[in-house]
Amino acid sequence: MLQLKNVSVTFNAGTQLEKKALQDLSVTVNKGDFVTILGSNGAGKSTLFNVIGGKIPVSQGSVFLAGEDVTHQKEHVRARNIGRLFQDPSMGTASQLSVEENLALAYSRSQRGVFAKAVTKKDRELFADKLKALQMGLEDRMKTPIGLLSGGQRQAVALMMAVLNPPKVLLLDEHTAALDPNSAKKILQITNDLIAKQNITALMITHNMKDALENGNRLFIMNDGRITQDFSSEEKKALRAADLLEYYEV
Ligand SMILES: Nc1ncnc2c1ncn2[C@@H]1O[C@H](COP(=O)(O)OP(=O)(O)O)[C@@H](O)[C@H]1O
Ligand SMILES: [Mg+2]
Repeated sequence: MLQLKNVSVTFNAGTQLEKKALQDLSVTVNKGDFVTILGSNGAGKSTLFNVIGGKIPVSQGSVFLAGEDVTHQKEHVRARNIGRLFQDPSMGTASQLSVEENLALAYSRSQRGVFAKAVTKKDRELFADKLKALQMGLEDRMKTPIGLLSGGQRQAVALMMAVLNPPKVLLLDEHTAALDPNSAKKILQITNDLIAKQNITALMITHNMKDALENGNRLFIMNDGRITQDFSSEEKKALRAADLLEYYEV
């Protein structure tokens, strides 16, 4: 579903600030894989997501999405196939618009390729159904401006928006890190449910080793612009959080 071939990203090449954020990185992620990603600050995790999403160009190498070479495809075109969540729940949602208008924006784009916040009766019923399944009472707050919701509620809607049109790849960049422990747990549970139900291919960056071990079927550890460990589901089950520290290079 996703393939990176010999991808390098160098920032400020040829200057004193030169930084190789990704170094000759090659990896294949299969359909339905749910990969958790650990690594120290600066290891290149967000850069990896930026390259997959087309936010920053590669210096070398290629990116393939479902077999198609998207290396030079623009970010907004790629966004049709890639869902992305960030640490800050306000990213990717419009705070003045209501829950249903935000959902309508995501839905209209996926269905008709245009942004429209008008909500039809049929859309509203669909959204209410999906929100109900989250069991957060959001189906009763569809007319509430999303900026008035808690971080957890907002992240739940952002997640729903990201998968309304099932993306080829879902990128989760520490999407529970800014939430209180209960909300984080709830969002992680919803994340797992949605990924499993729709067989979504997903990558999740986290700093929480327990979360990295307990979720997904594969675990990458990144160091210095490279994936230095790629643990399978079986290997992951045999690992403990304390074991993981030795894989962090300092
Ligand atoms: N736009 C940029 N310009 C210059 N350097 C960058 C830029 N983005 C990231 N970097 C550098 O690249 C390295 C990897 O960053 P990043 O991918 O954000 O790491 P992580 O998400 O693993 O913490 C870091 O040294 C960071 O300072
Ligand atoms: Mg980062």
